[in-house]
Amino acid sequence: MNPSPAQSAGSATETTAYRSPHSRSRELYQRASQVMPGGNTRHSIAMAPYPIYAVSGSGCRVRDVEGDERIDFLNNYTSLILGHADPRVTAAVERRVASSTAFTMPTPEDVELAELLVARIPYVDQIRFCNSGSEAVMLAVKAARAFTGRHKIAKFEGAYHGIYDYVEVSEGPAADEWGDADAPRSVTEPGTPPSVAEDVLILPWNRLEACRGLIAQHKDELAAILVDPMPLGIGMIQPRPGFLEFLREETARHGILLVADEVLNFRISYHGAAHAFGIQPDLASFGKIIGGGFPVGAVGGSRRVMSVFDHTGGLKVHHGGTFNANPVTITAGLETMRQMTREAFDRLNGLGDYIRERLTRMLHDRGLDAQVCGRASMFVAHLNSGELVDYRSLRGFSRTSPIYGELCHEMLGRGIITSPRGVFGCLSTPMREPEAGAFVDSLDESIRRLGIRPS
Ligand SMILES: Cc1ncc(COP(=O)(O)O)c(C=O)c1O
Repeated sequence: MNPSPAQSAGSATETTAYRSPHSRSRELYQRASQVMPGGNTRHSIAMAPYPIYAVSGSGCRVRDVEGDERIDFLNNYTSLILGHADPRVTAAVERRVASSTAFTMPTPEDVELAELLVARIPYVDQIRFCNSGSEAVMLAVKAARAFTGRHKIAKFEGAYHGIYDYVEVSEGPAADEWGDADAPRSVTEPGTPPSVAEDVLILPWNRLEACRGLIAQHKDELAAILVDPMPLGIGMIQPRPGFLEFLREETARHGILLVADEVLNFRISYHGAAHAFGIQPDLASFGKIIGGGFPVGAVGGSRRVMSVFDHTGGLKVHHGGTFNANPVTITAGLETMRQMTREAFDRLNGLGDYIRERLTRMLHDRGLDAQVCGRASMFVAHLNSGELVDYRSLRGFSRTSPIYGELCHEMLGRGIITSPRGVFGCLSTPMREPEAGAFVDSLDESIRRLGIRPS
């Protein structure tokens, strides 16, 4: 195994074997391209010219097929809050697997995880499990439609909520598709019927007066406003003071449900993201960390709204799913959530403050007009100048800008895993200040090597 720079406290050792013409990653990608379109089965991890293939992970480190080890700041896009192969999660899962993995019956663990989440999340009286965040968002939207008897939803331009047709609308429109800043166009993805666009109102993030006008125009048709309180697709730009409260008030006034997408941001706090931002949604979707590293989703909310799923009381929304609440996921999720005590969140979020502060200082010292967004255990360093307000304000230095891909490869070569679509990272509990510092040093050195200078 080749030690990474972070392991050897900033030495110049490189983790670049994947770039060799004879690397196993290159060979695996060539084989993958024969049997999978684009050589890929998950667009969010595609990387040019090819991805690095992983073999194992332990704590905050991941080893690739060449034997190089790196510190993992992606954690399967935020889902591994305890890092890789946590010993207690692994032991619990091994015990579970040895006594079968799936039944056509519920298990006691379903009830325990549901009870744990209901006890922690102030706006969740009842919850149901599914297998992905996308399913969780879809179920929340369907529940809102069934509850209100209305069919339209509103969501924010640039926000990602998974792969359900309606929530994919305008998840990343190109500048020539935007339309009016005060009335953004609804842009569907390829493969989606154009009629879907008519049922999705697109709102501009943080632009309160524009949102007020748009909501007022569509108030009688809107079943829900779907909001991620700090959307990664919008660069984790924080909601302006009062913006989320305004959404809560407007929705309540017009009989629209407020649906929080906490699939990614539930890791912000012990009580959930909406709570941390001071709002009380009617429904929320969850995923990622609550599955302890296994596929998961969940929809939860007030008892009144969740009653649309109650088959004993005149069912309105059907919810099947062969693997819903599968015992392996639920066991891993339960062990993970038990370890994520208030103190564990506090320590991890304190490390988040530390890394955001160090990143900000380093970028400032380099003279770059860059900005660090994010909160709790997540951060995004934007190499943008100008005020960051909404999705459109990011495009000057867009997440598709080639510079982010180059920075990512530089950092991969220095023992750090980050995203090719922006300098994004999230922390896991095995990390301490040296690992956070290694990220900052690696970005600093990568910026220098690429010659990124103040504009
Ligand atoms: C905010 C948000 N919602 C929904 C999803 C979809 O979750 P999944 O990938 O588990 O389907 C994601 C995935 O990254 C997400 O970040």
